[in-house]
Amino acid sequence: MGNTLFDKLPDDGSRRSFMKQAGGIVGLAIAPPFIAQAERLTAFSKTVAGVSTMQLKVNGTVRTIQVEPRVTLLDALRENLHLTGTKKGCDHGQCGACTVHVNGRRIVSCLTLAVMNQGKEITTIEGLAKADQLHPLQEAFIKHDAFQCGYCTSGQIMSGVACVNEGHATTDNQAREWMSGNICRCGAYPNILAAVREVAGQSAKG
Ligand code: FES
Ligand code: FES
Repeated sequence: MGNTLFDKLPDDGSRRSFMKQAGGIVGLAIAPPFIAQAERLTAFSKTVAGVSTMQLKVNGTVRTIQVEPRVTLLDALRENLHLTGTKKGCDHGQCGACTVHVNGRRIVSCLTLAVMNQGKEITTIEGLAKADQLHPLQEAFIKHDAFQCGYCTSGQIMSGVACVNEGHATTDNQAREWMSGNICRCGAYPNILAAVREVAGQSAKG
């Protein structure tokens, strides 16, 4: 302690004015994007602070929730809509456990706000099966024993479905590369790869 610029300032009020100036500089730096963000939020929600009403279309059904604009899509799905198939692993965009589809593209739901996903088609693992019929990749995960603890599984499956649809699972190495954002602590990778490649092969033939 005692070596920072802050510590060298005399304790006579100039510390306070220094902090005010620093705050002003930071404020200037973040103001334009924040304003732009606020304008986007008001398109659907009328407030950018406090609890507000939002509508999310999840698995084909429009659901209304009351959350603050800072709430992530992941937390809205799990805590407000009780769709707990989507898992929270790292909460920092690094493990893929929270992968869902938004407008058909895979995203990590911990890195996007619920408010930003209004008006979009959100699909979670709960929406993948059609009635009693599992998605082919869900079937393949069972067939290839592609899970152990199962914690990463929903994210792996959501990512795997998108990976196949993108055409990024045509070889083992390609599938490994494009699935590399999904971490499995149990190390079920060979089985996951086998499941993804099988469905990619079926798709290619079909
Ligand atoms: S919880 Fe979102 S990437 Fe890990
Ligand atoms: S099956 Fe346990 S983390 Fe992947």
